[in-house]
Amino acid sequence: MPDLVRELESLAEGARRAIGAAADERALEDLRVRYLGKKGEVSAVLRGMGQLAPEERPRVGDVANRVRDEVEALLATARERLASERLERELRGPPIDVTLPGRRLVPAGHRHPVTRATEEIVGIFARLGYEVASGPEIELDWYNFEALNIPKDHPARDMQDTFYVDEATLGPGAGEGSILLRTHTSPIQIRAMKRAGAPPVRVVAPGRVYRSDYDQTHSPMFHQVEGFCVGERITFADLKGTLAAFARAFFGASTRTRFRPSYFPFVEPGAEMDIGCVFCRPSDGSRTSCRVCKGTGWLEILGCGMVHPEVLEHCDIDPERWTGFAFGMGVERVAMLRYGIPDIRLLFENDPRFLAQF
Ligand code: PHE
Repeated sequence: MPDLVRELESLAEGARRAIGAAADERALEDLRVRYLGKKGEVSAVLRGMGQLAPEERPRVGDVANRVRDEVEALLATARERLASERLERELRGPPIDVTLPGRRLVPAGHRHPVTRATEEIVGIFARLGYEVASGPEIELDWYNFEALNIPKDHPARDMQDTFYVDEATLGPGAGEGSILLRTHTSPIQIRAMKRAGAPPVRVVAPGRVYRSDYDQTHSPMFHQVEGFCVGERITFADLKGTLAAFARAFFGASTRTRFRPSYFPFVEPGAEMDIGCVFCRPSDGSRTSCRVCKGTGWLEILGCGMVHPEVLEHCDIDPERWTGFAFGMGVERVAMLRYGIPDIRLLFENDPRFLAQF
């Protein structure tokens, strides 16, 4: 007959030693399974009870219960010991640095390249002392065209080119074509000058604009940054110096610029500024096979000019005393040049695989 009592006692002896030596909570859990689990050692001993004489069973059963209770108690004590040891270690160890950055659970997002470019452009002019302004995207004809000297027959005012608000949706007093989605940020010139009351004013104004256009380099909604500076004795030299400084800050210190005469009804004289092609970078001005600048070595990036005296008058500013310059650039265009983006539509599809590259 197997001596089950002795077996149980030596089992208890082994458990005491093993539990006392367990180094962590995992080891304790393994020991619990080993001794008390369904297929554990105590159960194995109890399975041998069948072979005992009936009068011996209660005695062996008592010993088995006592051993199980003891092992359970040993496990509980050991768990407490390990927990308080861990706490001790944490308290004695280096303190938790609450200033460490958090762990990222999801990959960080990205600012959109148009947002990045806008912030950079605005930042450059802010450092030159320009204030940031904005205006409504749904604009009155007067601010968008009339105050800017844009004549009635100008193509920009064409119903096909411009998104007018349907007369029927307007309240009383509104005439046909009197409200539209602004076609450029230049109406902010008028609003900001009227708001300032009197020069000097230096304002930079980013915003969305709308035109009925859609192809590889045009989108019906796009962004512009307008800028203007009105003061005493502001000249075309100030315009050139400011915009050349901007181009160097935005496209790199070696960026060359040139100004070509151009026509905008709200400036006189008017010009367009080109930068040396950022893709083929011809050093000697020779023609290249570059597709972006079409071999000219130059890229147009903005329109500019001296604020037209009549525009100043529309803002109640005396053009005999004050002069100023203004400029407007397309943000998508400069972002495409700066980051090497070949198609404007990529900027509006918002595919994260594209955006993650910036
Ligand atoms: N508003 C003009 C455009 O959208 C750009 C411009 C702004 C030109 C200011 C001259 C002065 O094309």
